[in-house]
Amino acid sequence: MYRWEVNSALLLAALLLAGCQDGAEQQELQLGQRVWEGTCRVCHLNGLGGAPAKGNRKAWAARIDQGLEVLVEHALHGFSGEQGSMPARGGNPALGDAEVRAAVKYMVSQSR
Ligand code: HEC
Repeated sequence: MYRWEVNSALLLAALLLAGCQDGAEQQELQLGQRVWEGTCRVCHLNGLGGAPAKGNRKAWAARIDQGLEVLVEHALHGFSGEQGSMPARGGNPALGDAEVRAAVKYMVSQSR
């Protein structure tokens, strides 16, 4: 009886935790979408200035392979590659680190 109670309490805790994580992840992607629409879309919709377009898996594959942290770093501080120049914070200094990070995650989630 005692064991069953402990087990079910643990199970409940695990389920709650998993639920919260999903919720937080969802919220971050929603924030990312808003930021993307507001700041990143202008270049990353159609590839203006050499930007990899959202949803273009081919253009994103090698970039995604670098890992999320590298992509976030490049989005925060700017990055010049073979295609062109990515301005720091997409040229919008009002964006916080978490907002830029969310936008990168959103764009990556739509491009793999
Ligand atoms: C003025 C145009 C422009 C805007 C606005 C812009 N980008 Fe970019 N971005 C680029 C270009 C151009 C590249 C590709 C540079 C290259 O690889 O030569 C790029 C590349 C990237 C990459 C890939 C970096 C890598 O390591 O391959 C990420 C991530 C990124 N942008 C995120 C964002 C986010 C997030 C926003 C909005 C907050 C944003 N960009 C807004 C032009 C832009």
